[in-house]
Amino acid sequence: MLIKKRKSWEISENEVTPKQHYLNRRSFIKGAGAIAGTSLFAACRPDRPVEPGSVAVPTSLPDPQGAAPTTGDEAAGLQPSVSQTTDELGAELTDLQDIISYNNFYEFSTDKGKVQPLSQNFVTSPWDVEVSGMVNNGGTFGLEDLLAEYDQEERIYRLRCVEAWSMVIPWVGFPLRKLLEKVEPTSDAKFVKFTTLDDPDQFPGQGGAFNFYDWPYVEGLRLDEAMNDLTLMGTGIYGEPLLPQNGAPLRLVVPWKYGFKSIKSIVKIELVDEMPVSFWMDANSREYGFYSNVNPNVPHPRWSQATERRIGQFGRIDTLMFNGYEEQVASLYQGMDLQENF
Ligand code: MTE
Repeated sequence: MLIKKRKSWEISENEVTPKQHYLNRRSFIKGAGAIAGTSLFAACRPDRPVEPGSVAVPTSLPDPQGAAPTTGDEAAGLQPSVSQTTDELGAELTDLQDIISYNNFYEFSTDKGKVQPLSQNFVTSPWDVEVSGMVNNGGTFGLEDLLAEYDQEERIYRLRCVEAWSMVIPWVGFPLRKLLEKVEPTSDAKFVKFTTLDDPDQFPGQGGAFNFYDWPYVEGLRLDEAMNDLTLMGTGIYGEPLLPQNGAPLRLVVPWKYGFKSIKSIVKIELVDEMPVSFWMDANSREYGFYSNVNPNVPHPRWSQATERRIGQFGRIDTLMFNGYEEQVASLYQGMDLQENF
C-alpha cells in the first residue's frame, strides 16, 4: 500500500496562524530579550574551518528555577508552539534554546555565543523593505503591512550550515513567491538580490579595527529558485516572531542551500538581470559559489560536506543531497554540473 506522507511544510489551513493573532504576538515580543548562549567557536569565516565535535552546545531549555540567565518575563513568551515535533523525515526539532543562542550573524560578532547578547537592543520596528529593480509594481513596504497581507505559515525545515552542523527549525513565514508576484518582475529579471541593513551604529561587526568584510551582507537567488515553494520569507520561529539574533524582523530561508544563503534582517530585495555577487563570494570566491546547494559529494575546499552534526545530538549523520529536498528542487538544476556550479 502506498501511503503519501504529507510534507512538514505542506500545511493545512488550520495550521496557518491567523494574521491578527500573529500581529498581536508581535507586539508582545517586540524588543524581547532571550537567553545567553554558551557556544564557543566562530564561524562561516572562510579562514576558519570548523573542528568537528569541538563545540559545547546547550542541549536543553534552561532551568525554570532561575539558574538560567533569562532576561525576564519576555522569555516566557518563547515557549515552543508548533504543530509537529519532527520534520517529515522523523528528525526531532532542535531545542528553541539552541536556535536562539547559537548564531551566525557577523554584523554582531563572529563568535556564535556573543551574537545573542550583542543583538538584544537591535531596533526591528518600524522596518521597511524596498522591493525594486526590474519590476512593474515595486515599492517600499512596511513589515507590518506584509504581515497583514500574507498568512503566516509554519514550515519545519532543516538548516544545514556549510560548517557542517545542522538544526531542524519550525519557521514561521510566507512564501517569497507571494511578494514577487505582487511586484511583478519584468521579463528581463533573472535574479533576486537581497541586502541586509547597513548600520554600524547598531552592528558592532560592521565597524572597528577588526572589520575585514565588505558590508552590507548581500545574497542572491536565481528567479526560479526564489519562486520555488520552499523559499520562505521567515518572520518567526516556534510560533513567535523572530528574535534579533535569528535575523529579525525578516530573513530569507532557503532550506536546500547552505545556511549562509539565508540572509538576515533584509531591507532591500532587487530584481536584476545579472547574477549578484554575494557577501561570501566577494570574501572568497574560491571557496564560496553562487549556488551553494547542500551537496555531500562536493567538498568545501578545506573540509568534507559528507556528514554533519545535528545540534543537540551526539555523533554525526549523513548529509543528504539538497539537504533532503531533492524531490522539490532537483529539477531546477537539470543538466547543470553541480561540481562546477558550486
Ligand atoms: N545573514 C547576515 N546578514 N549575516 C550573517 O552573518 N550568517 C549566515 C545566515 N545569514 C549571516 C546571515 C549563516 S553563515 C548561517 S549558518 C545562518 O544565517 C545562521 O542562521 P541562525 O543564526 O538563525 O541559525
